[in-house]
Amino acid sequence: MSKFEYANAPESSAILNLQSRYQLFINGKFVAPKSGKYFKSINPATAKELAEFAYANNSDIDLAVKSARTALTKVWSKLPAAERGKYLFRIARILQERAREFAVAETLDNGKPIRESRDTDIPLAAQHFFYHGGWADKLDFVVKNPKPYGVVAQIIPWNFPLLMLAWKIAPALATGNTVVLKPAETTPLTAMLFAQVCQQAGLPDGVVNIITGDGATGANLVKHPGVNKIAFTGSTEVGKAIARSIADSDKVATLELGGKAANIVFNDAAIDETVEGIVNGIFFNQGHVCCAGSRLLVQEDIANELVLKLQRRVSLIRVGDPMDKNTDMGAINSAAQLQKINELVESGNKEGAQMWQSDCKLPTNGYWFAPTIFTGVSQSHRIAREEIFGPVLSVLTFRTPQEAIEKANNTQYGLSAGVWSDKGSKIMWTAKHLKAGVIWANTFNKFDAASPFGGYKESGWGREGGKHGLLAYLKAGK
Ligand code: NAI
Ligand code: MG
Repeated sequence: MSKFEYANAPESSAILNLQSRYQLFINGKFVAPKSGKYFKSINPATAKELAEFAYANNSDIDLAVKSARTALTKVWSKLPAAERGKYLFRIARILQERAREFAVAETLDNGKPIRESRDTDIPLAAQHFFYHGGWADKLDFVVKNPKPYGVVAQIIPWNFPLLMLAWKIAPALATGNTVVLKPAETTPLTAMLFAQVCQQAGLPDGVVNIITGDGATGANLVKHPGVNKIAFTGSTEVGKAIARSIADSDKVATLELGGKAANIVFNDAAIDETVEGIVNGIFFNQGHVCCAGSRLLVQEDIANELVLKLQRRVSLIRVGDPMDKNTDMGAINSAAQLQKINELVESGNKEGAQMWQSDCKLPTNGYWFAPTIFTGVSQSHRIAREEIFGPVLSVLTFRTPQEAIEKANNTQYGLSAGVWSDKGSKIMWTAKHLKAGVIWANTFNKFDAASPFGGYKESGWGREGGKHGLLAYLKAGK
């Protein structure tokens, strides 16, 4: 098929006042790390250094946790709930005012297309603060005599850096907890801009502390005796390590882990709309999405037609400069993630699945992977079982609804699923039998602060968002 070219439409980065070095944010101030160490975050689209970030060691963690404790007992717990809410509204409005700057920062640090950071990540992050600001003085409708846990340690991944920060910080503050948050080591930039927003909003010192570092920093934060609750989003492996490390303490945890969503297409589905939904399900955010529709289960009699239409559509995905407003798919977040994708794709080829790749031109610097579709995939293949966390779709077929359910549920995960059909009754029947926390019908990857999100089985513990998400930050008082 012939392709036409667009003129470049790059977003300017002039709005971002990028510092060469960012310090830790403890007790309302930016402070140099006691460790004396710094690490670099790169722009994965160029593989060039973006900025340096402070590395928090145990002394830094201790200061951050103590500052969160002091803020909790001296200030935050004494404020009327409606006053807490006002801070959340203020933060939400500042995020909206600085939205363009945040979108540029997120795209440069993470590699995701500016279209997505501008239209999805940043607006949804602001929405989470607005939504939870509204809950702050209505918590009696959630539990009787609501009480916060206290100091919450929050550890987040690199796929939606600011959005995951918002998912964590907004409900924690609304419920009266104070926070020590650690962003992922490859994407700490928007968290440090958020620290500026806390100052700008006049949030009392120590209510939010942000410390940067790697997995060891995260593990030490979890172990700190001053922490009452842990909220983690990331890999299932680390989620299990956290569960083990708090097993003999009275700390509680919510864990939002991996997924391997089945996207089930029945033969009566509106095929062109379904193709769009499948593309959104797996190629959104380079496939770095825990709830990505990475397993396409398609009814056998329409499989050939659907796969052909899908390939034609996917060959039009524009991969390249994330700062270009025409770009659909940006850079893979890190060399390590690219290596993991390559390894799993190689296993798909070795195990006998058929690989198709878009013939798009990939940039030479940075980390890139072309949109990929495997057909002829069977349940036993690694690409059908393991989380690839990249732009790779595995296509399996089924004949009956029962077979679709059996295949969809045959996984260690249970985070999300999609169902495509013209018949409401078929959708409801399928949804009832799926073991997945979130199920989309005739759509995919729709998010809202009011909707609880979370999984079954090895996809995690607890829910985030909505009334259910608030429960994770509250204990019932006496
Ligand atoms: P990861 O789980 O190692 O990292 C997530 C966060 O946890 C980061 O902030 C990291 O510094 C921190 N961390 C790492 N080890 C820790 C420990 N022992 N204790 C406390 N915190 C710790 O994820 P990674 O290595 O970046 O990605 C590996 C795979 O995990 C990906 O390929 C993907 O399959 C999956 N993943 C899933 C995510 C999700 O949204 N469910 C997000 C990120 C990764
Ligand atoms: Mg980076």
